Amino acid sequence: MCVVITVLSCDLLFPTAMGIFSVLALPLLLLGISGIIYIYQSVRWLLSKSAVQNKVVVITDAISGLGKECSRVFHAGGARLVLCGRNWEKLEALYDALISVTDPSMTYAPKLILLDITDINCIRDVAKEILNCYGCVDVLINNASMKVKGAVQSISLELDKKIMDANYFGPITLTKAILPNMISRRTGQIVLINSIQGKIGIPFRAAYAASKHAAVGFFDCLRAEMEEFDISVSTVNPTFICSYHRQPAPGNWEASIWKFFFRKVSYGVHPVEVAEEVLATVSRKKQEVLMANPIPRAAVYIRTFFPELFFAIVASGIREKLKTEEEN
Ligand SMILES: NC(=O)c1ccc[n+]([C@@H]2O[C@H](COP(=O)([O-])OP(=O)(O)OC[C@H]3O[C@@H](n4cnc5c(N)ncnc54)[C@H](OP(=O)(O)O)[C@@H]3O)[C@@H](O)[C@H]2O)c1
Repeated sequence: MCVVITVLSCDLLFPTAMGIFSVLALPLLLLGISGIIYIYQSVRWLLSKSAVQNKVVVITDAISGLGKECSRVFHAGGARLVLCGRNWEKLEALYDALISVTDPSMTYAPKLILLDITDINCIRDVAKEILNCYGCVDVLINNASMKVKGAVQSISLELDKKIMDANYFGPITLTKAILPNMISRRTGQIVLINSIQGKIGIPFRAAYAASKHAAVGFFDCLRAEMEEFDISVSTVNPTFICSYHRQPAPGNWEASIWKFFFRKVSYGVHPVEVAEEVLATVSRKKQEVLMANPIPRAAVYIRTFFPELFFAIVASGIREKLKTEEEN
């Protein structure tokens, strides 16, 4: 009798236990994977941070959207920052913001330097000022840049040249002025914040794309030349960097879930993500990073392997745009 009851209760309990297990299996698996990803990212973040501790890091246009985020992550990582920008009040505001949120015993107060990247004749003097801050530069982040949008015939040659100064001649002049210090110490890292537009030409951004193509060509050559001196050269090419106001408000769960699933496809990358990638690029001495969503990433490959298809898609996009404008 007892045996029969045991067998019956097993029959009843076993399918129930199996059912519960199969219902819980997927959430448990997802939880486990999320936990592993979280631990992996935390370890990566800690390693990246420790790699820049005490390093002298120079950031040009530290007051831009991305510059501010780079300043924040490198400052929190214990780097000795030299922040450059062309507006003293904004530099001071950034300084105040940085030191107000970090433990002064774990971080260095940043040094501030005025720099207008288009003022080529002054860059050598500014480079001396930068070197005087700590006597050396470990990492130079060429972030400063100017943007312009418009049809080729509507942009003056003067503006074309100004864009070339800001995005090509400025960064290379500063790099050339800092390089002898790195070469003599046989160490250093140079980072160029470039753009996906240094890889593909997008209509109505000819001057910007041309300057970014020129910069990437220069730094690709420099990378090979600097290898014998143990100086690494990295180019970071983000696609569209979304601005802060497009982010869902904190605490808005619906918006956050929406953001989690769709932001990467629709909005581009957030400056915080790019800044953390710049930190990882420096700590792991990555040579080239492309931060792009699936569509622009595919465009880069199509441009490389099927250029005619790429040109046809871009041309049809322009025809479509002009048609819509005419209809409106
Ligand atoms: N935003 C994007 O979608 C995107 C995409 C790919 C790559 N990037 C790259 O990311 C980097 C940072 O861009 P961002 O979007 O963060 O910049 P941003 O927030 O749009 O700010 C532009 C900055 O350029 C500064 N600037 C303009 N002319 C200058 C000059 N002559 N000298 C020095 N600074 C000057 C402005 O200073 P003022 O405020 O004083 O005018 C401002 O701080 C750039 O290299 C850019 O090419 C951006």
